[in-house]
Amino acid sequence: MRNDVIKISASILAADFACLGEQVAEAERAGADRIHVDVMDGHFVPNIGIGFPVLHSLRRVTRLPMDVHLMISDPDFFLQSFVESGANSLLVHWEGNNNLHRTVQCIRELGRRAGVVINPATPASVLEEILPELDQVLVMAVDPGFGQQKFLPSMLAKITRIAEMIEQLKPECELAVDGGIDKATAPMVAAAGANVLVAGSAIFATSQGVTSAVEALRAATRSGRSA
Ligand code: DX5
Ligand code: ZN
Repeated sequence: MRNDVIKISASILAADFACLGEQVAEAERAGADRIHVDVMDGHFVPNIGIGFPVLHSLRRVTRLPMDVHLMISDPDFFLQSFVESGANSLLVHWEGNNNLHRTVQCIRELGRRAGVVINPATPASVLEEILPELDQVLVMAVDPGFGQQKFLPSMLAKITRIAEMIEQLKPECELAVDGGIDKATAPMVAAAGANVLVAGSAIFATSQGVTSAVEALRAATRSGRSA
């Protein structure tokens, strides 16, 4: 099975920014595989998020790959700066991008992994032509912009459909899911065919602390894999 190894990507949106470096280091020690950084411009989504200086500082405290989720209009203007700030993957939305192929090519020319993100209301079929160019598809299981929203169960069928498309068109492309991932939803998402789980509040906003939260999520993904 292509999702034998499930990767956990810790989304720092829910972290305590007064001690962000320590929180990220703890997630890394606990076994998180990636750091997911949400960049928001207050226009593409109704929220403002992290920018270059934060990425730059995080690059010094973690060896984990940083996946940068660009919830911004006109991402092309900023790709190079994100690369210079330490991004390993650049994830751009299908929505609002009239020249997605050019954006993806630009990311590849910059030597970084390219991912395309689709919102819950966007059908899987829009990915068909761009998929062979991608290293990752990121399925939003909530509308983007905020953490702690409820996972939309209707996304499970879409995840399965995209997993099948990936198998046919680009088997090495990762399938990631972002939004509402926790101990309860992780097994379902893994069983549907995702192999990267992005989790914010389930890692950084629980009473159990970051280490046990990552361990609990890891255990939950194992149960999904055998489902
Ligand atoms: C939402 C962001 C997510 C967010 C997920 O727009 O893209 O990465 O951090 O938060 P949770 O895991 O709380 O749903
Ligand atoms: Zn995100």
